[in-house]
Amino acid sequence: MNKEASSPLTFAVPKGRILDEALPLMARAGVVPEAAFHDKKDRSLSFASEDGASQIIRVRAFDVATFVAFGAAQVGIVGSDVIEEFGYSELYAPIDLDIGHCRLSVAEPAQSQDHKVGNASHLRVATKYPNLTSRFFEKQGIQAECIKLNGAMELAPSLGLSGRIVDLVSSGQTLKSNGLVETHVIMQISARLIVNRAALKTDPRVAALVEQFRAMIDKKAA
Ligand code: PRP
Repeated sequence: MNKEASSPLTFAVPKGRILDEALPLMARAGVVPEAAFHDKKDRSLSFASEDGASQIIRVRAFDVATFVAFGAAQVGIVGSDVIEEFGYSELYAPIDLDIGHCRLSVAEPAQSQDHKVGNASHLRVATKYPNLTSRFFEKQGIQAECIKLNGAMELAPSLGLSGRIVDLVSSGQTLKSNGLVETHVIMQISARLIVNRAALKTDPRVAALVEQFRAMIDKKAA
């Protein structure tokens, strides 16, 4: 038995909304977390799969990409927003899972008169996505000063931290509830299966899992 096959495969999943949609897909691929995974009082950070072949770690979405890029986890599920924001060369995202649909958008206060991005040469933007944000505004010839926040971006304009935000939008309810309007869509997002490129080459279990997910998605699309 080679070294990889003797240790469980590590599968990283994000906390939050994608998880509910991801778990049924993982189950169809044979990856079912032990019961403790669903126990809110359990403070463990890694869980065995029911068959003992994998361990499942539940981390923040951005950290899913980092664990997989560095090979600490071999496989993961994460939004295409996170993949694009980091641009890790060691990450391979072979399968669009067709779940976790949302968009990354620019928003500003509803009463703002300045809906055209081109109205300014310098903007301050609060976001979790400084790379995608700078790139988007650069294309319009605008230098964006990005203020990195990790959540509750929608508060930034009303408190004078920034004129705009770049954040995920799904139903649009969070923007509406905080007096903001969406002005530009930067990208459409869905969740992807991601694997570490080196692990894909050296550990046959990774390639087998990719094929299982691929077959499942192809069947769904047929
Ligand atoms: C996301 C996002 C927005 C909200 C958008 O946050 O950051 O705040 O969802 O969804 P909506 O358009 O349906 O209102 P999430 O609730 O996932 O938590 P987070 O701030 O911890 O990322």
